Amino acid sequence: MNKEPKVLISEEAIQSRVLELAEQISTDYDSGDDLVMVGVLKGSFMFLADLSRRLSIPRTIEFIAVSSYGKGSISSGAVRLVMDVRGNIEGKHVLIVEDIVDTGHTLKYLIGMLKSHRPASVKTASLIRKADSAEVDVDVDYLGFDIGDEWVVGYGLDYAEQNRTLPYIGVIQPTDV
Ligand code: PRP
Repeated sequence: MNKEPKVLISEEAIQSRVLELAEQISTDYDSGDDLVMVGVLKGSFMFLADLSRRLSIPRTIEFIAVSSYGKGSISSGAVRLVMDVRGNIEGKHVLIVEDIVDTGHTLKYLIGMLKSHRPASVKTASLIRKADSAEVDVDVDYLGFDIGDEWVVGYGLDYAEQNRTLPYIGVIQPTDV
């Protein structure tokens, strides 16, 4: 039977941090250049929706999908592109939007992959980063929260596809579900 996840970051805390990040991004990109926000499926959908709606600068939305091999075991760090952006991002300012950075392999791969499209710039936003799990060095320019080594769900994050649509970030034990 499903147990209700324990609240780690409340809906209110998320919304107020998302607003702060949106204000920072709106200030940083206030150059008249369109910003292309690239959401990484599936987990980023909620953060992308809230963050994009709170910006005060012109922006467009793209999605990208990847799959990673060897996750949760001895990670090879191999990431495979499943779906590329649809629009032309050459010469545009790109902001990759992630729900979580864990080992960092996915974000590192995406930065390199998107740079091959010759954008004007590539920056990164993630709602959550697992501070102690990094296996590669990767910059998160706009970070919501650092957390410990916990299994988190909600606000886009799932465990076996469950709990993605919770409005808060909760902690589960994988044996709960
Ligand atoms: C999660 C998250 C990142 C990646 C981060 O996606 O959305 O894309 O893992 O992990 P890393 O830093 O160790 O590379 P996941 O594979 O769970 O897919 P999903 O978003 O479709 O749930």
